[in-house]
Amino acid sequence: MQNVIGVWYNLLVENIKVLLLGSGELGKEVAIELMRYNVFVIAADRYADAPAMHVADKSYVLDMNDEDELRALVEKVSPDIIVPEIEAIATKVLVEIENDAKTGGVRVVPCAKAVDLTMNREGIRNLVSKELGLTTSEYEFANSEEELLLVAEKIGFPVVIKPIQSSSGKGQSVAKSSSDIGKSWEVAKSQARGKSSSSLRVIVEEFVNFDSEITLLVVKAVNGVFFCEPIGHIQEDGDYKVSWQPAEVNPTALENARSIAKTVVDALTSETETGWGVFGVEFFVKGDSAIFSEVSPRPHDTGMVTMISQDVSEFAIHARAILGFPIEQPVLLSPSSSCAVNAQGFGKPVVSNAQVALSTANSAIRVFGKPFINGHRRVAVTLSRADTVVCAIERAKQVESLLKVEVLSFQE
Ligand SMILES: Nc1ncnc2c1ncn2[C@@H]1O[C@H](COP(=O)(O)OP(=O)(O)OP(=O)(O)O)[C@@H](O)[C@H]1O
Ligand SMILES: [Mg+2]
Repeated sequence: MQNVIGVWYNLLVENIKVLLLGSGELGKEVAIELMRYNVFVIAADRYADAPAMHVADKSYVLDMNDEDELRALVEKVSPDIIVPEIEAIATKVLVEIENDAKTGGVRVVPCAKAVDLTMNREGIRNLVSKELGLTTSEYEFANSEEELLLVAEKIGFPVVIKPIQSSSGKGQSVAKSSSDIGKSWEVAKSQARGKSSSSLRVIVEEFVNFDSEITLLVVKAVNGVFFCEPIGHIQEDGDYKVSWQPAEVNPTALENARSIAKTVVDALTSETETGWGVFGVEFFVKGDSAIFSEVSPRPHDTGMVTMISQDVSEFAIHARAILGFPIEQPVLLSPSSSCAVNAQGFGKPVVSNAQVALSTANSAIRVFGKPFINGHRRVAVTLSRADTVVCAIERAKQVESLLKVEVLSFQE
């Protein structure tokens, strides 16, 4: 195995071809960072002109949940490294590919097992709660409205209900009593991704009355494991609205969170020597306990704040780690915040009035360049630094409020 590390460590970067599966705003930043090392980046997504495609060397449009389409793309482009940037991928294909890779083929970041287990809520709960015995909210699964009612009553109201495969709060709801169950089932059914309603499966979680929630960015690199300062965030309807760094966390809870995060990351990457990259580990903090919520084996949306708060962003760290280069402890430059800019409608989102918005001190904007939206979507993020977190949040929110966001219908 020593050899495997050696090979990656010494490869000429120009010779490396990366296939990015998922070309949204996070993928775009990863693509930019990889391209700084002259890596050849191929961006894939289910629609054309996705954000990462604006910067990548090449792009492909396909249904990444379709095993045959995904296999065919990998065969066609023959990448050295596959970097999944979203959950909705036919992960079984990645597991197959990695098994072939043992004889010198493609590497999946951080490893196919991590991508496969975290692509739905069931795999990761089984690992964290059952195998590792770590504390999570109480939970059960349900396949029908009737079953949902039974398990919700067993756990006790209120409960949080989520499709087992979804992100950004889609299909998620809180049921306060048995009379909410029908509506929750409908919400899950209408928004579950990649599944027909007859095969809908949901997780039912105990509602955690947390004091705060944090994301711990963990970096696994060739030269060790590193933690970024905790990121605090506020979610609206299960989607992140504001994040900041550093989050003030009870020291015992933070120590617990770091230890749990390392255990989870090690378990996810236990079968490979090259399980490198950034992991976003989400926790609920209550008093001096940290309760594991979920993990992304890739940069995290709340971690966009690191584009202004740290000497190296989570995307720069991810690129460097996955290429097998050594990492140094990321440095927090000053208290900072990010605020999501959302748009609602069907058409092309346009963000303007930056000239006015950027009169706010120590602030920046990242517009993702999504070609169209259908519904409620994040289209940009504002970034601000200040002497205190409170002031940084105020600034990021001010920039957001000064921006003008429109959705142009396709006729215009
Ligand atoms: N069991 C719970 N108790 C209380 N609040 C919860 C619970 N589960 C989720 N939430 C709230 O909903 C938010 C989104 O939940 P979760 O992270 O599981 O969804 P998600 O769809 O995976 O979101 P994302 O993809 O943005 O991380 C959490 O950050 C938290 O604010
Ligand atoms: Mg989450």
